[in-house]
Parts: sequence; structure tokens; C-alpha cells
Amino acid sequence: MKLFIDSANLDEIREAASWGIIDGVTTNPSLIAKEGRDFIETIHTICGLVDGPISAEVIAPTAAGMIAEGKALASLHKNVVVKVPLNIEGLKTCKALSSEGIGVNVTLCFQPAQALLAAKAGATYISPFVGRLDDICEDGVQLIKSIVDIYRQYPDLKTQVLAASIRHPLHIVQVAAVGSHVATLPFKVLKALYSHPLTDKGNAAFLKDWETVPNKDILAQVAAFQARQGSAA
Ligand code: G3P
Repeated sequence: MKLFIDSANLDEIREAASWGIIDGVTTNPSLIAKEGRDFIETIHTICGLVDGPISAEVIAPTAAGMIAEGKALASLHKNVVVKVPLNIEGLKTCKALSSEGIGVNVTLCFQPAQALLAAKAGATYISPFVGRLDDICEDGVQLIKSIVDIYRQYPDLKTQVLAASIRHPLHIVQVAAVGSHVATLPFKVLKALYSHPLTDKGNAAFLKDWETVPNKDILAQVAAFQARQGSAA
């Protein structure tokens, strides 16, 4: 499963990119507004930080406006994916842009029929919002499973399921288990993915026990061993 970071914070993206496990970035108008920086400068900078799909969302209310905005955003960098809302204007925009080879991420998906239409419109990604369904006591992971299962019935569909609105590490495990192609997650959830108290406890114990080893320095040990090998040859 590919992992995208869901953020417009350049420091978070820079740090996440340094780990070498991030495959792309998703932004949305709220994430952009939160940072208070120039939208276009931010997207262009992000394109330089992560060599993968970078989602930038249009805000026009009609397909004509969305198409114009989408083409302008796509012109910024080859990795820009145009994000459109899952309404009829967004679907028309998706069809128009995908027909011209522009990648489209159809967002704000909350039920499987929407995902089927997005795929028929040529979407590169469909973004079902897992957390926002959980927030109202509906099953967000089940939505991911339903869409994955539907898409699997039609191998010609190229749309990738991009699980969004991820609230915690368990969501990542759950959407991966049902076959989501991608998950996009906030930096705080990304940081929580690797941490476990037993890992920290076990590593501390290993290092404590290593203190009893006479020649603790591994590099020095390898050099001494190779010197012995050389002298023995
Ligand atoms: O990419 C969509 C994501 O940012 C929405 O997350 O937490 O606002 O539901 P959230």
C-alpha cells in the first residue's frame, strides 16, 4: 500500500520525506488555509520535496471553472494531481481532465456509488473519507472494502482507492487489510505508525546488555577482524 502524507505543512512534509517511505502528498483547501502561505508556492515547493503524486484541489463551483483551475494547477509540475469534489461538476471536470491525460483525485467520497461514477469518469484516485464516517458512527473501513470489492469486479477500471480522513494507526492497518491502494495520513498518525513501547523497551534492553561486551565498538571490531584475516592470509 502506498502512503501519502495529508498535509500542506512544509516542515512536516520535509521530515516525512526524509524517512524515505512517503509516496505522495495530498492537500485540500482547509490544509492550505491552515498554513497561511501562498497556495501555488506551497504546491510547487511540495513538488520539489516529494517525487510522487501531489494533490492540489480546485475551488471553482462549476466544471468550466474547475477545468480551467485544474489545467493551471497541472501546469505547475508533472506530478500535480488535480483534486475535485465528488459532485456532478467535479465528475464532469474529472472526465474532461482525465481525457487530456491529467491525473485527477476525486475527493469527499462517502458511498460506493459515488466511487463507481468517479471511476467511470476516469479518476486516477478516489478518496473515501474513513474518519468522517466513523465520526458519525458509520463504518468508514467498510466503505473502503466495498469500493475495493466493486473495482475488483472490473479489471479495466484504473482508479486507485486512496483512503483519506485517517484518524489513527489502526485505520492504516484496517484499510491495508481490505486492499486500499493508497492511504493518506496526517503527520501525527504517520509518527504513531512506528512507535510501540515494547520496541523501545526491547531496544533499551539490547543496548544495556551490549554494555557488557568487551569490544563494544562494531567498526573497530570489524577493522580488527579484517586485519587478523589479512595477517592470516
Ligand atoms: O484529505 C482529506 C483529509 O484531509 C480529510 O481529513 O480529518 O478533515 O476528515 P479530516
